Amino acid sequence: MNIATKEQRADNSQPKKTVINSHDNRYDLTETKLLKKQIQSESQVRSYPRRIPIAITKAKGALVEDEQGHTFLDCLAGAGVLALGHNHPDINHAIINAIQNDCPQQTLDLTSPAKCLFIDALLDALPAAFAQNCALQFCGPTGADAVEAAIKLAKIVTGRENICSFYGGYHGMTHGALALTGNLSAKAHVTNLMPGVHFLPYPYAFRSPFLHSNTITEQSLHFIRSQLSDPESGITLPAAIIVEPIQGEGGVIPAPIAWLKGLRALCDEFNILLIFDEVQSGFGRTGKMFAFEHADIQPDILIMSKALGGGLPLAIIAFDKALDAWTPGQHTGTFRGNQLAMVAGTASLNIIKRDNLLEKVNVLGAFIKKELQKIQQNIPEIGEVRGKGFMLGIEFVSHKKDTLGHPQSHPEFCKAVQQEALKRGIICEIGGRHGAVLRLLPPLIITQKQAEHIVNTLSQAIHYVYSLEHNHV
Ligand SMILES: Cc1ncc(COP(=O)(O)O)c(C=O)c1O
Repeated sequence: MNIATKEQRADNSQPKKTVINSHDNRYDLTETKLLKKQIQSESQVRSYPRRIPIAITKAKGALVEDEQGHTFLDCLAGAGVLALGHNHPDINHAIINAIQNDCPQQTLDLTSPAKCLFIDALLDALPAAFAQNCALQFCGPTGADAVEAAIKLAKIVTGRENICSFYGGYHGMTHGALALTGNLSAKAHVTNLMPGVHFLPYPYAFRSPFLHSNTITEQSLHFIRSQLSDPESGITLPAAIIVEPIQGEGGVIPAPIAWLKGLRALCDEFNILLIFDEVQSGFGRTGKMFAFEHADIQPDILIMSKALGGGLPLAIIAFDKALDAWTPGQHTGTFRGNQLAMVAGTASLNIIKRDNLLEKVNVLGAFIKKELQKIQQNIPEIGEVRGKGFMLGIEFVSHKKDTLGHPQSHPEFCKAVQQEALKRGIICEIGGRHGAVLRLLPPLIITQKQAEHIVNTLSQAIHYVYSLEHNHV
């Protein structure tokens, strides 16, 4: 496979065909045979191809190549699955080696040498205080199934029926996980979602659900306390509160450290289980192995998937052994024994440690964020640049105010920037309220040069869309 030139691959450099100085040299992304086939055969529920209409034929590191030979720097990376990029040689080597040595491929939840090695690597990656007394449950291989397992366990342990989630939270598409998800469009016309879910305000200061955004941490915690302690709040004590320490799909919104600590304290005080959903933020993405480590606290139940399996499907929940109250077989699933995912996951965890990738994510993530904030100074449509490590977002706004007095979301600007970035060879996603947040989830292995390329290209795309918006083109 030969995507970048030899030199480019040596320094893991930039896409080869992106001409970054001229609007005329943008890719012409025409509808190809493969794309036509996709449109003909797949359901209209498909989502990413609508915004990223390319057929990927090759992929290496942070780069992917489409059917027409265009090269892109992948800042979506399988929605965070590919922490080490595509086809990392050491992961591929581990997988090939396992196959050549007749490693079993699926074992349900029977154990194996590959599983034991993987468990050791995972426990090593978890904070020691959490790892020393935790039980692991291998789930069906998606984040959503692990979410289902976590809420089921919380209900079984506490005997309670309610679960609290947060505005903007995203936990997956199954009936239980969707019930816990904030996004209303995904819920439209889906009747009989899991009952007993109640939403609390997340500390999203840019669009504060409270009148004063500067005290959002205190107000949100006060609200939750009132919800839990008022004998007439209408909601019996929940089994658990589920939260993303940094909301991803909701618009890349990091919860303040003080808020996370306060939430932990409230859960302890009211004897409620705290579930951290780190499906997206886990495994180095935010510059710590897990995002909750920024707050120096621990969850009662931790949900992991995406990058966990080194690019292959795998999902696990980890929880204190004291909570291990369910009976044998109470949460099962056929695809819980994907051995190759465990092999790839072990390799991936070892590489993150070996190559000191957390430090790189901190340094380069801060660099990208700072550069984006510089762009913000000249572009009034950029309302906020936020995030941690390689989980970054740019929220676009118009000059108008919405009915809450917040800057109105500008999804058209955001979408246009995404499209212009794509034509210039950068793949990124949009999310957040009204789809007005441009989201970056690059693989942890990108180089300084690639980080510079990302900000330069985004700068061009943003300035170009700004020119269009203000009729300068
Ligand atoms: C925080 C979070 N939880 C759960 C999920 C669901 O994971 P999956 O799509 O693998 O079911 C996602 C997916 O994006 C996620 O970001």
